[in-house]
Amino acid sequence: MPKTLNIIRDEHRSIAAILHGMEYLVDRIRARKAKIDPRVFRAMIYYLDTFSERMHHPKEDRFLFSALRKRGGEAAAAVAGLEQEHAAGGDALRRLEQCLVRYEEGGDREFPAFAEAVARFVREYREHMHKEESVVFPMAERLLSARDWQAIDRAFEENRDPLAGDRDTRDFEKLFDRIVNLAPPPIGVGPEA
Ligand SMILES: [Fe+2]
Repeated sequence: MPKTLNIIRDEHRSIAAILHGMEYLVDRIRARKAKIDPRVFRAMIYYLDTFSERMHHPKEDRFLFSALRKRGGEAAAAVAGLEQEHAAGGDALRRLEQCLVRYEEGGDREFPAFAEAVARFVREYREHMHKEESVVFPMAERLLSARDWQAIDRAFEENRDPLAGDRDTRDFEKLFDRIVNLAPPPIGVGPEA
């Protein structure tokens, strides 16, 4: 598999871990009325904002999707749908954050709306990543030449963080560690609720 697709798949795994953590913690609050430190949800939203919105999606758009768009036809159509989903990603994250603030400040009566927002966000995000891996990956392998991949792989390596400023991999690792330290087991090593 081309290097770029491996990088994207690895990044999807990190994002999927955050989505799973979010879903699990919400389930735990619902099932056991557990008190979960809301900072963990904030840290997860921040991770998705910096890692996914400002680094992962722009990289996909700029280097992989743009190459596919040039192929026209079914590739251009598939990529257009995913680009629209990327463009809507920031709003989806803000809606989720607003529901979290309401839950933090409004307490239990705001929990159902927050839980519903998390469920929807997680479902849509998983569907999006699944489409990329099951539709775009095979299409890209079929349509792009070895020369295309050379250019895309190089661009991916040189521009790991196109919009994330001077952040590098270590910053994302630190953020990930913060989530692990805040979240209770089995998601993380934070205090038991
Ligand atoms: Fe992606």
